[in-house]
Amino acid sequence: MLVYVMLRKAILPAAGMGTRFLPVTKASPKEMIPIVDKPLIQYSVEECERCGIDEFIIITGKNKRAIEDHFDQFSELDEILKQKGLNNLIEEIHRHDESNFAYIRQSKPLGLGHAILCAKAFVKDEPFAVLLSDDIIDPDDTLLMEMIEIYKKFRSPVIALQEVPDDEVSKYGIINGETVMDFGANNIPKQLYKINGLVEKPKKEDAPSNLAVIGRYILTADIFDALESIKPGRGGEYQLTDALNLLLANRVVYGYLFKGSRYDAGDKFGFLKATIELSLKRPEFSKDLQMYIKSLAARL
Ligand code: UTP
Repeated sequence: MLVYVMLRKAILPAAGMGTRFLPVTKASPKEMIPIVDKPLIQYSVEECERCGIDEFIIITGKNKRAIEDHFDQFSELDEILKQKGLNNLIEEIHRHDESNFAYIRQSKPLGLGHAILCAKAFVKDEPFAVLLSDDIIDPDDTLLMEMIEIYKKFRSPVIALQEVPDDEVSKYGIINGETVMDFGANNIPKQLYKINGLVEKPKKEDAPSNLAVIGRYILTADIFDALESIKPGRGGEYQLTDALNLLLANRVVYGYLFKGSRYDAGDKFGFLKATIELSLKRPEFSKDLQMYIKSLAARL
């Protein structure tokens, strides 16, 4: 089997129902909800592009057409912006012209595992990244790049982990693992785990650790065989967690502990926090927003 060094492809599953975000997700894709002026999925695309990934396979479903339109050309808009001399906006809407986008429709939302399996024919035998767009990683962070470096070093799948409080383990896939090394970047020691097993959304008392799987993965093509072998698991969905457990019988899977900022923008409160914090990072709003927050806090 060929061993790939380059990582050029990313799968962005976007076919979920987004029930936590109803009513807006009844007719609009969750992935198109904007933080300031960019939809959630664009943050993921840009995170990949910063790492040299330029091939995107977006898994879509019912009511998700807006995602395709967002990354497509729109010549009438170009013309209007040109007439108005808004060249900076033309540049902005052509930011992703160098990347390639393919769309695969998941006929029913049968789970994250099933969504990833839908991309099998496009990925072939290359390694690939999976990003869940409702998990927003601080754009100043280099998590994905570091995960790619770990993949290149060990040629094994890498899953991003974050420590979560006891009362939140039931919202995540939780790993059972052992530290294999401290992997320093910019003199910050970061931990790499060898994963021994994963449990999907365990009860607090059954959780093997507080290390939760977050929405960034580097996977290898053998995950597809595992995804084809699994049966519907928790919630009647095909769970990626179950396929990863199968994969563990044949190869090492690493977990990489992320200590930076992540926002669960698929949850309404997490989305509010992401909006405020990412807006504070925007130079055009930062000062005014800080002043506004201070004046608001004084009134509360
Ligand atoms: P979530 O667990 O957040 O599910 O999926 P969801 O449907 O989007 O949202 P809630 O929980 O009902 O509010 C994680 C990611 O996997 C995708 C989603 O689009 C999201 O990016 N997904 C999930 C699929 O593509 N297909 C599925 O069948 C399920």
